[in-house]
Amino acid sequence: MKTLKNIAIAICASVVLTSCFNDRKPNYQYFPNMYESVGYETYGEYEIFPGQQSAMMPVENTVPRGFVPYDYENSTEGLNLAKAELDNPYKVTEENLKVGADLFNIYCAVCHGDKGDGKGILATREKFLGIPSFADAGRTIVPGGIYHVQTYGLNAMGSYASQTTEKERWQIAMHVMDLKASLKGEPGVLETVQAEKELTESLTSVTDDNATQK
Ligand code: HEC
Repeated sequence: MKTLKNIAIAICASVVLTSCFNDRKPNYQYFPNMYESVGYETYGEYEIFPGQQSAMMPVENTVPRGFVPYDYENSTEGLNLAKAELDNPYKVTEENLKVGADLFNIYCAVCHGDKGDGKGILATREKFLGIPSFADAGRTIVPGGIYHVQTYGLNAMGSYASQTTEKERWQIAMHVMDLKASLKGEPGVLETVQAEKELTESLTSVTDDNATQK
């Protein structure tokens, strides 16, 4: 009789203790601060902030850290001016090209295709129309223009300014110039730079020879 009572108590106790248990959620929060941050969440709503948003605009007349001002306007004139005046401030190196190629494959290849022929997966599935090939004779594909359209976007193409840094956009531009060269069957940008370097070196050594002969 006593054992029967004990068993009954045990069953009741286990039902009571386990019935409200939900294994998808933490049960007791012994240290709630570990689960619920005491700090302000980046996009949280708190009364203390203007508009009750913890995310605020930068103070007027300041720029966010790492931001590089860009003086060309988001317009056709701005694009043409950037194409004419602006050049890649970074040196063509294997490393810059590698970073540019990786980023291009992440952000751009879905539309432009990994070869830059305008036949990315979204183009072949007709999700986006009018995606040009970088070798398109009707377009002037130059570093300044490539940087400009990444910064502002162009019609159906969006801006990449929030996903990429200034340097990354130039690295991507370098890779785009490389793709354009390979589409046209021309030597890649790295070979071109090396060939130019060798040419100037041989020219200076000729001048040096002339100088020593005199
Ligand atoms: C959603 C598809 C899409 C993605 C992703 C995309 N583009 Fe474009 N891109 C376009 C379209 C469409 C055009 C043609 C826009 C026009 O002329 O109206 C274009 C045009 C261009 C041009 C030619 C601009 C000119 O001067 O005529 C360049 C260069 C370019 N894109 C580079 C890039 C780079 C670099 C990336 C990645 C950072 C990228 N695109 C991502 C759709 C895309």
